[in-house]
Amino acid sequence: MNPALSPIGLQMSSLTGVRAIMKDIIETLRSNRGQDLINLSAGNPLIVPEVEQLWRDCTQELMASPEFGQVVCRYGTSQGYEPLIEAIVEDFNRRYDLNLTERNVLITPGSQSIYFFAANAFAGPLGNGESKKVVLPLSPEYTGYGGVSLSPETVVAYRPRLDIAETQHYFKYRPDFRQLQIDGTTGCVIFSRPCNPTGNVLSDGEVRQIADLAIPYGVPVLVDAAYGPPFPSLNFTELVPVFGGNIVHCLSLSKAGLPGERVGIAIGDSGILSVLEAFQTNACIHSSRFGQAIAALAIANGALADVSLNVIRPFYQKKFTVLETTLNQFLPDHLPWFLHRGEGAIFAWLWLRDLPISDWDLYQELKQAGVIVVPGSSFFPGLQEEWQHKHECLRISLTASDEEIALGMERLAQTVTAVYR
Ligand SMILES: Cc1ncc(COP(=O)(O)O)c(C=O)c1O
Repeated sequence: MNPALSPIGLQMSSLTGVRAIMKDIIETLRSNRGQDLINLSAGNPLIVPEVEQLWRDCTQELMASPEFGQVVCRYGTSQGYEPLIEAIVEDFNRRYDLNLTERNVLITPGSQSIYFFAANAFAGPLGNGESKKVVLPLSPEYTGYGGVSLSPETVVAYRPRLDIAETQHYFKYRPDFRQLQIDGTTGCVIFSRPCNPTGNVLSDGEVRQIADLAIPYGVPVLVDAAYGPPFPSLNFTELVPVFGGNIVHCLSLSKAGLPGERVGIAIGDSGILSVLEAFQTNACIHSSRFGQAIAALAIANGALADVSLNVIRPFYQKKFTVLETTLNQFLPDHLPWFLHRGEGAIFAWLWLRDLPISDWDLYQELKQAGVIVVPGSSFFPGLQEEWQHKHECLRISLTASDEEIALGMERLAQTVTAVYR
């Protein structure tokens, strides 16, 4: 059956960004089953034994407690499971010296839904032919932002400045404040810190500067800390979360071992959060209470922050080092290759300046060489302008064994060298 679709139905039933290429990747993996293919495309976190054990222990504790029935057999409030909200308020007030109350916390089914609620509550068509924008201050960005708005044309991104360490083969994106436009036409601002796909971490000063630009217009600024501290703590550089005013600090438990349970956390102004909460009630009532209840236990006893800092962070940081070392060993010095500074997240981002073929063609060549990565052009949601740089990058996932990453990068270096030749 092919039911007729509304314009919103048409738009929401098509895949955006990286999800569109995942189809090709899945088909490649299926048709090459049994062959030696190294898959460095996935954003799905690995199962880390200590992290799995933590969630197993919390599950056993919950199942043995009289609270179990209340958690799984009853609906709760849309704002979230009360013991989880209490645990977050208590943890963040102590850790960051804040004065949060329970009205400053909202729990959602994964953090992606926070951006969906915000993009459609604060931005979109105004009904008079004009529309408010979802501003992404720095591109490339998380590909999921490309699909968060029911009016995708309202998502606009800005080209960054590039800091290039020419001889060391490193670079870093920075917001270009000369271009960035946040004004009466802005509905909300979103950026990831640490960033998927680049591993970039905006400085505290840059975060404040963006938030300050938005204050006069009453615009919420959503800082996506899906990889930030205190869980999963996938920042490899100093990162102090910024709170207060128009900033909504958004966390996710997905990279802390719980992607299947769908727990997102928004911390911010109660007026902003109450809009998102009502949106959530209309859309899906609330997040899984089971996931929220085990998260409450792991946050209240400090185990989640501990495992994040001492297990999850070193686990992925080592993989970045393996990748970096292998590229330095095998990519020739005379080629213009640049690795983005590895400041966090579970990816590496490689820029191949003046690449003689497109990133998509390189992706195909790399498949032939037995390595799957993601062409970088999938990661520029909202950036309309033509920019050669968009076709010169690759995202390489760290969600593989150290040996696979090393071998994958050796193969990548051979292919890239041949392509430049
Ligand atoms: C930067 C970023 N934000 C948000 C998400 C969505 O995460 P969640 O599982 O919390 O919806 C992801 C998932 O990969 C991500 O990389």
